[in-house]
Amino acid sequence: MLKNRVLYILEQQKGNIVTGGQLASLLGVSRNAIWKSIHVLRENGNEIVAIPNSGYKLMITNDTLFEKIVQEKLTTTFIGRKIEFFPTIHSTNQYLKEMDNTDIDNGFVVVSDEQTSGRGRRNRKFISCKHEGIYLSILLKLHRVSQDIRLLTICAAVAVSKAIEKICNIKTEIKWVNDIYCDGKKICGILTEAILSAELQELNTVIVGIGINTGNVPLEINNIATSIQEITGIRGIRNQLIAEVLNQFEVIYLDYIEREKKDEIIKYYESRLFIVGRQVLVMGINYNYIATVLGIDKTGALVVKDDIGDIKHITTGEIKLEWGNEK
Ligand code: BTN
Repeated sequence: MLKNRVLYILEQQKGNIVTGGQLASLLGVSRNAIWKSIHVLRENGNEIVAIPNSGYKLMITNDTLFEKIVQEKLTTTFIGRKIEFFPTIHSTNQYLKEMDNTDIDNGFVVVSDEQTSGRGRRNRKFISCKHEGIYLSILLKLHRVSQDIRLLTICAAVAVSKAIEKICNIKTEIKWVNDIYCDGKKICGILTEAILSAELQELNTVIVGIGINTGNVPLEINNIATSIQEITGIRGIRNQLIAEVLNQFEVIYLDYIEREKKDEIIKYYESRLFIVGRQVLVMGINYNYIATVLGIDKTGALVVKDDIGDIKHITTGEIKLEWGNEK
């Protein structure tokens, strides 16, 4: 569509003036067609100023996703080398789960501009509004069946934390096991799911789903969630951030799988773990109890001390920071 090609050029020249004539000749259309596209782009939420006798300047974007920009910024060898973009989808994780994964490449990535049934842990809903977040899933084919899913979630959390810090220049914090926080509110959730192979009944494919709030945060979750835009005032970084998350994830995943650098990954994770020393509610499968967080062990399990002084290594379930008040 012409409007997307116009926006792509303005995005690349963001902050600079591009003349109507330049756009028309680059795209092989009339100036009038360019003017009409600019009009539609404005209606879609992009702030484009027309400078008299000069040209157009993109001030604020509605943060359109461009596969081409993401691909240009990828430095990976296999993560995201095959990538599929959707304007809308039920859930990127679900989409990969429903595919016949025998023909899918290791590192295949699905990105969507919105999700109508985005899922979080424990089957909770993950609100995924159009243009307002990054919703992506990475499919991994494991070489060894024993590779630990919890550690893959930890790799993803470290990748997202590093990517946000690099691209947005803000400090992130991690809440075990899969939430990234900024300024005391959740900015990203990660859902890692395994697929059992039909014949072998063994775990050989894992889907890592990542949801990052980048734009407006819906009112219903405004007390517990935040976004890149809310913290930095900046919009228009989704393409860059998607690429950086994938770039970081590949390095960290290979550090874990091939380069035996698990300890370094855990060390970074622990450096961002803001719950150390705090009292939390541990929500186990059978019962809940209050405990103090001591850190995480080499397997990524949360180490806590309960109120009778017993040390426990938690591998499943989740924790709450403020009970009676979902956070
Ligand atoms: C959580 O907060 O409990 C995890 C949220 C995970 C959301 C992501 S968005 C992309 C992928 N598709 C989904 O349906 N969920 C994950």
